[in-house]
Amino acid sequence: MTTRILFVCLGNICRSPAAENTLRHLAKQKNIQNLHIDSAGTAGYHIGKKPDSRMTATLTKLKIPVSGKARQFDKGDFEKFDLIIPMDAQNQKDIMKLTSSDSHRKKVTPFMNFSKSFTNLDVPDPYYGDLDGFKKVAAIIEDGCHGILESLKKS
Ligand code: 4NP
Repeated sequence: MTTRILFVCLGNICRSPAAENTLRHLAKQKNIQNLHIDSAGTAGYHIGKKPDSRMTATLTKLKIPVSGKARQFDKGDFEKFDLIIPMDAQNQKDIMKLTSSDSHRKKVTPFMNFSKSFTNLDVPDPYYGDLDGFKKVAAIIEDGCHGILESLKKS
């Protein structure tokens, strides 16, 4: 059975597309085929845009292929996905406002819950920072994506 996973950040141009592309890459490397992976933003500012060029450059250096176009999270995503992973607590609050269903709410797990080596509660927003911030975010995301694959193996 396919597990459908959706990452959610604010703009859907930095953190959530990085997580989408990193998880897809790691799953491919490990020959895990039963995943459908997507990402969305809680805000609509960047709809239709490609991932931020600084995020793309950072992932490309790590040999992670990058694709996708920004879209806004929609209430219907609660039905379309099995696991919904907000990158920070504000993103989580914003999507939780869109549903009162327990079955929807149970699908939501914060990204950092999957982290193996980092203690941050949120994936920091790199948008207004420098390239070093993007590198740190890519490392946090890679670590968490390994955690996600491990947790799927157990479930
Ligand atoms: P993301 O980063 O939520 O990781 O995609 C951001 C992208 C854009 C903005 C903020 C954060 N913005 O304010 O436009």
